[in-house]
Amino acid sequence: MNIHYVKEKELFHLQALNTSYIFRIVNGYPVHLYWGSKLQHDDSLSRLMDYPQQSWIDRLPQEYPQYGSGDFRHPSYQVQLEDGSRVTELVYQSHRITNGKPRLQGLPAVYTESDEEAQTLELELKDPYSGLNVILLYSVFRDHNAITRSVRFEHSGESPVRIVRALSASVDLFDSDYEAFYLAGAWTRECHIQRRAIGPGTTRIESRRGASSHQLNPFMALMRPNTNEDHGEVYSLSLVYSGNYTAEAEVDQYGSTRFSIGLNDFDFSWKLEPGESFQTPEAVMVFSGEGIGGMSRTLHRLYRTRLVRGSYRDRERPILVNNWEATYFNFDAEKIESIAKAGAELGIELFVLDDGWFGKRNDDTTSLGDWVVDKNKLPKGLSDLAERVKRLGLEFGLWVEPEMVSPDSDLYRRNPDWCLHVEGRRRTEARTQLVLDLSRQEVRDYLFESLSEIFTTVPITYVKWDMNRNMTEIGSAEYPAERQAEIAHRYMLGLYELLERLTGRFPQILFESCASGGGRFDPGMLYYMPQTWTSDNTDAIERLKIQYGTSIVYPVSTIGAHISAVPNHQVERITPLTTRGDVAMSGNFGYELDLTRFTDEEKETVKEQVSLYKNIRSLVQQGDLYRLKDPFQGNETAWIFVSEDQAEALVFYFRVLAEPNVSHKRLRLKGLNPEYRYVMQDSEEVLTGDSLMSFGLTVPRLPGDFTSTWFWLKRK
Ligand code: DGJ
Repeated sequence: MNIHYVKEKELFHLQALNTSYIFRIVNGYPVHLYWGSKLQHDDSLSRLMDYPQQSWIDRLPQEYPQYGSGDFRHPSYQVQLEDGSRVTELVYQSHRITNGKPRLQGLPAVYTESDEEAQTLELELKDPYSGLNVILLYSVFRDHNAITRSVRFEHSGESPVRIVRALSASVDLFDSDYEAFYLAGAWTRECHIQRRAIGPGTTRIESRRGASSHQLNPFMALMRPNTNEDHGEVYSLSLVYSGNYTAEAEVDQYGSTRFSIGLNDFDFSWKLEPGESFQTPEAVMVFSGEGIGGMSRTLHRLYRTRLVRGSYRDRERPILVNNWEATYFNFDAEKIESIAKAGAELGIELFVLDDGWFGKRNDDTTSLGDWVVDKNKLPKGLSDLAERVKRLGLEFGLWVEPEMVSPDSDLYRRNPDWCLHVEGRRRTEARTQLVLDLSRQEVRDYLFESLSEIFTTVPITYVKWDMNRNMTEIGSAEYPAERQAEIAHRYMLGLYELLERLTGRFPQILFESCASGGGRFDPGMLYYMPQTWTSDNTDAIERLKIQYGTSIVYPVSTIGAHISAVPNHQVERITPLTTRGDVAMSGNFGYELDLTRFTDEEKETVKEQVSLYKNIRSLVQQGDLYRLKDPFQGNETAWIFVSEDQAEALVFYFRVLAEPNVSHKRLRLKGLNPEYRYVMQDSEEVLTGDSLMSFGLTVPRLPGDFTSTWFWLKRK
């Protein structure tokens, strides 16, 4: 890791673990030159990468392009000045290279634990006419093949400016021979992989929902057409943000590609007074010369170790049972205790009480905002229930949905203007609820106080933080007319502030985020909450695609995966308990059904699953993931988890439908040490790493549909 500056050529060479990123200043503009595999830092670089000084700005490959002076592509930022003009020109002023990585004010970001882990370049650009300073921040990491970028606007002019676009990172790639790769979906169908060629014009994914969304995850990669899981060049951008974003690949008339990511400019503006600053979210840039798998493993390690925080970061996560699909809203203390008791007998470690424990919440039409226990269901209160669960030997966890309010709630009756709304207009309800206005300090204080009261009086070690609708009528009673287009972003800043306070005050609590499943599965939330409920779809076969797709960006330790009942509640499919177990054990494992209804035989299977997972969970949650067979491509899915020292590995193999009259299946493994000899657990067979990767493992005959098996290898 190093950031080099060649003064005579005004060239910057940023080196991360195995990546180089190079730009130089041409006529005052930072001009992009290279992003790819690591290059030696040598004098010849500045000769090789010399750039014609008179180049027309529309052809210049830039780092943070402006609008209004001849570059007709999408700019990285745009501001409106008080005189009505929208033209600015950012010119290089100075730069600073420092060890370490500064925290971003009020925003989640990748962090370092010591200054030796990273270096940061702050490149200061200035528009002399308006007095606007724009600081481009770049950090490179010693141990990660990643570069982070963000931008700080500092206003030293005389009159306010209005920022109407402010992306976090933009790179002008030399050519356009790429395919766009991203994750698209819907509720119960999250993170399905999309791949398509880019061409003249713009390929854009975005969210306009006020959350990062089920529909399009805030991530985009461009890759060479011949790239696959193991080979080829991948350039990826992932945004550490949970609200409206845009990611764009614009191919211009000359065949080069502007690749960028950041806050969505749709319905956004931000008034910056003289003396104020505005910080954009952080973009994480990963180049992989080792295909999609290489990119994923870089993101996994970075996010697992330097995005997720708190004491649970490096700890094995508890096996839980959640009562949502077991009871929905229909439960009482005895029912909950019976499920927890069954869980304790099976070795489960945590009970999570889901929706329905507060107010008069017997369905989803009421009580959000009234975070007071429902004494009809739990006459002796929450603490009593939690203590009873604890006496059974399980930890106690609780569901909350703090960002919302039901119109039928005491909170709403008391404070009807505490929700996002536009005065005089209809307040559109979704799931019979409105969104609280988290841009307001008093709303955040109310939530902090009422949640703190529960978290201090009830012995809780886990919180599932749900969020079940997107924003409409985005407006705030607290802010003046000219600041209404700031509210969606101010909401996110408010949410982050609230989460910072709560996670700081309750470090013993493991937080799991959820937004009707994966509606806000993004790096921003992972900074506060180390794991996410991946999808409300718990069907094992549907989950193959959802978990495979989610693993493109997110580490397995963050991917919540539970065994649920059959017929499955979302698709009514009946799958074997063993297959459901193998899918769920490929993630952050738990159960989501009425354990008391299992037969004795099923209970034995569950006991085996629980005890197996306890033995493999550090490997699954902290190991390296190599994807072996892609559910989007065929009937089989497989993946392998390999320990960092390559001494242990676990393979899961799944086949969706039985196939007649086919030859036996062979599965070539990845990530092992070719020199090592591995013992196959159970069979005691000894096999070499090279043969397992080149020849492969023979998959035994599996009867019927929806089947699976696993292989566990340990170094001899
Ligand atoms: C949506 C979540 O995704 C579910 O797991 C469950 O917690 C419900 N909300 C409860 O309302």
